[in-house]
Amino acid sequence: MGLSNCLALPEDYQVLRSIVRKFAEDRIRPQVLQNDREARFPAGIIEELGQLGFMGAPINPQYGGSGSDFLSYAILIEELSRVDPSIGTIVSAHTSLTAVPLQRWGTEEQKGKYLSLLASGKTLGAFALTEPESGTDAASIQTRASRDGDHYFLTGTKVWITNASHAGLFIVFARTDNRGNHKDISAFIVDRESPGLVVDPSESKLGIKAAHSCTVHLDGVKVSARDRLGEEGQGFKIAMQSLDGGRIGIAAQAVGIGQACLEMSIQYAVQRRQFGRPIAEFQAIQWKIADMATQVEAARLLTYRAAMLEDKGENITLAASMAKLFASEMCVSAAREAIQIHGSLGYSAEYPVEKFYRDSKVTEIYEGTSEAQRMVIASRLLKELQ
Ligand code: CAA
Repeated sequence: MGLSNCLALPEDYQVLRSIVRKFAEDRIRPQVLQNDREARFPAGIIEELGQLGFMGAPINPQYGGSGSDFLSYAILIEELSRVDPSIGTIVSAHTSLTAVPLQRWGTEEQKGKYLSLLASGKTLGAFALTEPESGTDAASIQTRASRDGDHYFLTGTKVWITNASHAGLFIVFARTDNRGNHKDISAFIVDRESPGLVVDPSESKLGIKAAHSCTVHLDGVKVSARDRLGEEGQGFKIAMQSLDGGRIGIAAQAVGIGQACLEMSIQYAVQRRQFGRPIAEFQAIQWKIADMATQVEAARLLTYRAAMLEDKGENITLAASMAKLFASEMCVSAAREAIQIHGSLGYSAEYPVEKFYRDSKVTEIYEGTSEAQRMVIASRLLKELQ
């Protein structure tokens, strides 16, 4: 249903959408509410997604990936999130924040060693940037990486790390110098089994409960210099460029949430009768649906545009932030209106719109808050005008 192909994408994309949609309906939907109630990580689904090649969609086949373009990847995240935003989060953090940075900055040795494990989904990836005192101000991280010969020793605390409960590999950002600016930051590939790395249980949170977010403690974790990703001092740039791609993933997730809310609202409005007729016949409901549909489609176009720019090898910072900002705020509003259309049923935890409302909120927060997106957009535009 809906307008999800109003861009008239070539057939390959439509086929991909229908394959992912069928998988999500058949395999994911039956367990969504239970996984949410129990905050249960959907390990079996992630394994199946790996077998289908969906855990390494934009990774080169040379490294075990599917070699898809970024637009296909955005459609994948959109369709997974239309049924379960938690799975959209897991796949997006794994792919855009772990596998893609490894593909872009990894040495051949690092790619040979780690990338095919990530691309096949056998190893789950996590991106460890945020700290208790460093959220939006990402350049202020305090985790240290002290060099001793051929090794670094990492000490610090990372918080809200998506996938940490099940990740086998982390990209960890730490300071390798003391000048106090972003040029001190370097990135490291860290094996989960490294002594000194401890992962706490997942946070108790409002939404996306099946996607775990954990605190990760690093106490003198020994990392070979061969596992430094990029050069010393390049870490902040690696983090920011990874987040550019990640923000397209979150925008796609938000489009999936908005689409789900729209579909559920239409289905409910045509069958729910009040005052002797379906509520879909009332203008109050029609206007909500019209606004929701328009905003979902606008968010989709911004998201696909950012993905297409990535596929053309262009700078995506501005387009990705615009897509993430608009799509995340759109999906929170769509979920709120979907509850309003459903009335008290929408407020019930037995009904999926309640979960979409809870799941939607984080899209305005993680991978850069809406305020951070506005900072990025404004600073890019002002720089261009100077
Ligand atoms: N690509 C490449 N380089 C970039 C860049 C980008 N997108 N953005 C900035 N840079 C470079 C700049 O060019 C500059 O380099 P030079 O000094 O060489 O010129 C340098 O980085 C510093 O740039 P800024 O002065 O703009 O940096 P800032 O400190 O003012 O930060 C910010 C700006 C936009 C607020 C940034 O810190 C930011 O995006 N914050 C949000 C962080 C975030 O998204 N965190 C989420 C973490 S992951 C998560 O949510 C959980 C999870 O597990 C998924």
